[in-house]
Amino acid sequence: MKQVHFITELFDKYDGRSLQAYLNVGGFASLQKTIEIGSEAVLTEIDASGLQGRGGAAYPTGKKLRQAQAEKAARKFVVCNADEGEPGTFKDRELLKCNIYQVIEGMVIAGICTQSQEGIIYVREEYTNMHDEIRNAIAECYSHNYLGKNILGSPYNFDLKLFSGAGSYVCGEGFAMCESMEGKSGRPRSKPPYVKQEGFLNLPTLVINTETLSTIVSIIKHGADSFRRYGTEESPGTKLISISGKVNRPGVYEIPFGLTIREIINDLAGGIRNGKKGHFVQIGGASGGILPEWLWDTPYTYEDLAKAGLSVGSGAIVVADEDNSLLDYLKVVQDFFSHESCGKCTPCREGNRQLRFIFERITDGTVTVADYDRLEIVLDVMGKASLCGSGKTEVVPFRTAQRYFPELFLTKESLEAKKAVV
Ligand SMILES: Cc1cc2nc3c(=O)[nH]c(=O)nc-3n(C[C@H](O)[C@H](O)[C@H](O)COP(=O)(O)O)c2cc1C
Ligand code: SF4
Repeated sequence: MKQVHFITELFDKYDGRSLQAYLNVGGFASLQKTIEIGSEAVLTEIDASGLQGRGGAAYPTGKKLRQAQAEKAARKFVVCNADEGEPGTFKDRELLKCNIYQVIEGMVIAGICTQSQEGIIYVREEYTNMHDEIRNAIAECYSHNYLGKNILGSPYNFDLKLFSGAGSYVCGEGFAMCESMEGKSGRPRSKPPYVKQEGFLNLPTLVINTETLSTIVSIIKHGADSFRRYGTEESPGTKLISISGKVNRPGVYEIPFGLTIREIINDLAGGIRNGKKGHFVQIGGASGGILPEWLWDTPYTYEDLAKAGLSVGSGAIVVADEDNSLLDYLKVVQDFFSHESCGKCTPCREGNRQLRFIFERITDGTVTVADYDRLEIVLDVMGKASLCGSGKTEVVPFRTAQRYFPELFLTKESLEAKKAVV
């Protein structure tokens, strides 16, 4: 069982822009069910499914919804995170494009479960071409009472609008997103309090990923057991992955957790282009870990990737072949973080500057032992002391590269000494 269709069940089965077409294929049945059985029964089902958030942190979704529900305030928000700024990640785009009504349905259900009456879909600026379709879908839902007051004759109200980001990677982080929606520059805040307590307008805010919302709808529709038929005990269900780089069939695939990286590359993505040999993959976006070709039999699960020092992250898999230099690749990753660092905290702002200098010397062959000592300190401080996940996880690609390709991080002198021994 390679590709499956649990949350992508309706892809290509209906005209994604038509509410009527969505209703014709059973759309909004999960919302109807939620209204009938109530939020406690829905939350119990989500708990039973073992769904973990698909935005990167893998936090249990049932627990997250219950925490959001427990917050008391006159106004509470649900924000669909469709910022999708991790390089190599484009799976939420498919959900917005092919099945926007399911995302909206997930938003209303999340609103009912957490007693929030206001929702925002935060879409990255680069997806401007989809904004009109998303706004049209929202308008259609209002005109047929899937949004607004007393939804489908129930006591529940839910308003929804779209907010466009302005092109910053860091705005995918909950607080930075709230700041940007408040009209400020998108920078994270210190915690606590957390976004769920004092997020948008300092009011309780549930920030939840687009895929997580879509998955909730399918779980309510088919039941937690159907979801758990896929995957492993610790990584139940399916995952949307976006695979790119040197493969024959790049794209978005829904897979059951547990396929190996090699199966994903060969059987789904059609293998490495031009018959070349694989070199490494980066898993989970620019802040994800590097996995060498000799470890591609690792199963794609939270637990197996964690053992290898990696995480599922955003669901991105970028494939490099034998012609790709890992050092060049890391330099591009580093450039990305230098460009995207919001500058609010010193470890990330200054750390990135230092990383850039060191990388220039590694790639032009002038690196010294002192540079490597500094690299250790910089990575250590960034990983421990950065204010947000951006600086904290930026160290992962470098640490995993050091772990699996130690020979790349040797000085000229030590390389020569090594050669002399050989
Ligand atoms: C720098 C940074 C960028 C992020 N970008 C995204 C993003 O583009 N999409 C996303 O869903 N989560 C992103 N996250 C994670 C969110 O902060 C948050 O954990 C997630 O949206 C929660 O949804 P989930 O529980 O469904 O996973 C980012 C986090 C950080 C630190
Ligand atoms: S870690 Fe980087 S992106 Fe995050 S707050 Fe600090 S400077 Fe900004």
